[in-house]
Amino acid sequence: MDTVSSLRAALWISLGLSACGTGSSGTDPTDTGTSTTGNQAGLCSKPVELLQETDAGPVPTGYVKCSNRVVHRERAEAAELVSDATGTCTWDYPCLATCEASEGAFCNSIQSDADEDCRCNTTCTTDSDCDDDEACYPNGVHSTCIPAHCKTDDDCDTDMLCELKTGSDVCGNPTYAQACQSVDDECRFDADCSNRSECRFDGDKYACRAMSSSDCGRPFTVEGKGRIATAQVRADWLEASKPLPPHTQAAAWWLRIAQLEHASIASFSRFSLELLSLGAPPALIADVHQAGLDEIRHAQLCFGLASGFGAGAVGPGPLDVRGALSDGLDAPSIARRLVLEACIGETLAALEAAESARRASDPEVRAVLEEIATDEQRHAELGWTCLRWLLASGDAGVRSGVLITFRQALQPAEASAPKGITGLEAYGILEPQRRRDLLEQGRLTVVLPLATALLGESPEAVLSSPNLPA
Ligand SMILES: [Fe+2]
Ligand SMILES: [Fe+2]
Repeated sequence: MDTVSSLRAALWISLGLSACGTGSSGTDPTDTGTSTTGNQAGLCSKPVELLQETDAGPVPTGYVKCSNRVVHRERAEAAELVSDATGTCTWDYPCLATCEASEGAFCNSIQSDADEDCRCNTTCTTDSDCDDDEACYPNGVHSTCIPAHCKTDDDCDTDMLCELKTGSDVCGNPTYAQACQSVDDECRFDADCSNRSECRFDGDKYACRAMSSSDCGRPFTVEGKGRIATAQVRADWLEASKPLPPHTQAAAWWLRIAQLEHASIASFSRFSLELLSLGAPPALIADVHQAGLDEIRHAQLCFGLASGFGAGAVGPGPLDVRGALSDGLDAPSIARRLVLEACIGETLAALEAAESARRASDPEVRAVLEEIATDEQRHAELGWTCLRWLLASGDAGVRSGVLITFRQALQPAEASAPKGITGLEAYGILEPQRRRDLLEQGRLTVVLPLATALLGESPEAVLSSPNLPA
């Protein structure tokens, strides 16, 4: 039995479900979106040039900020660097080592709302350094190619702007999007959208859409944005592993996974409080605490692999948990987070860990992945069991919230070729295309059939329920 079929069978059995559908509906999901009053397309009062530092002083980037906070690209300007430019990260050994090995790359501290992280950016100078569907965003040592549906305002309809949006996703990764405004836009800012959705370009227009679903295990999210702890030098989180060959890319990958596993501890801690607030039975709360302990071990194992591949003594710094209980403690809000973090996040994490273990030839890495895969499958079963308990309450708000969350999260993946590390399946890192195909298959043939069974709806109804608020 392949990895997907095996996980699907295990989850169905754990929920006591008797039939096993494939979930393939052939139906295109429809977009309902939300009509808002936030569309101010084409308007840009009091424009201010965004500048970049050069040896000759500040010069324009070509990006302009309007008084309503919209940023758009009026014209393309080359990205420039001061002559003594250095990256802003000084402590992340895998990042520093990776950057040293690539020309024009800087190891930079990425500051988002909630955390700080180090990434190796290869700087660009002009759009010609990027793919056809990308633009070079000038930002000093952070200058980088970003996804771009338009290059400048000239690519857009008359009086419309080529708008740039920046943020971070549910896994804590920085996000960029650049696309033309249109009169059909349903929103301009996240504030124009209802809770749990954001204003983003959907390939056609700016619209309110659910936060992207997790493909990074069980994330710890606050206001839909993923939070992870900064990595720092320490040895007390290292699970000793046998010596591994030094490998900077593998070290950086496993350090990132360790940070995500560490964040899963916080997610389970919060979920325990949420279950208590809903009066859940003791067995569920006990299983959630056991799962949190599993995540501590996962983090230790993964910090151990990062260290083994050359990251040195590395562990988590402080995790920002402010506002962790401010996203809503009502049953519908808890159910929506449960769908994203557990039913989808942990199901896909179990799938990825199992497939990565199957393909890892390094025995040390394979042993870690096999242990994690076994635990993540149990966590996925727990997530679906908790969801069934929540749905059994008969709360109509829970049911509609769960339905819309599944529908939004099961949108088809973007068609563009995935990017990522290649050639390291021996060390537990799936090829990017294989990973995307696996996760898409997991969404449609594991998550969707389980969702339809628990909701008592057809796959078509889950994927295209009309007239539900976003
Ligand atoms: Fe985990
Ligand atoms: Fe987990």
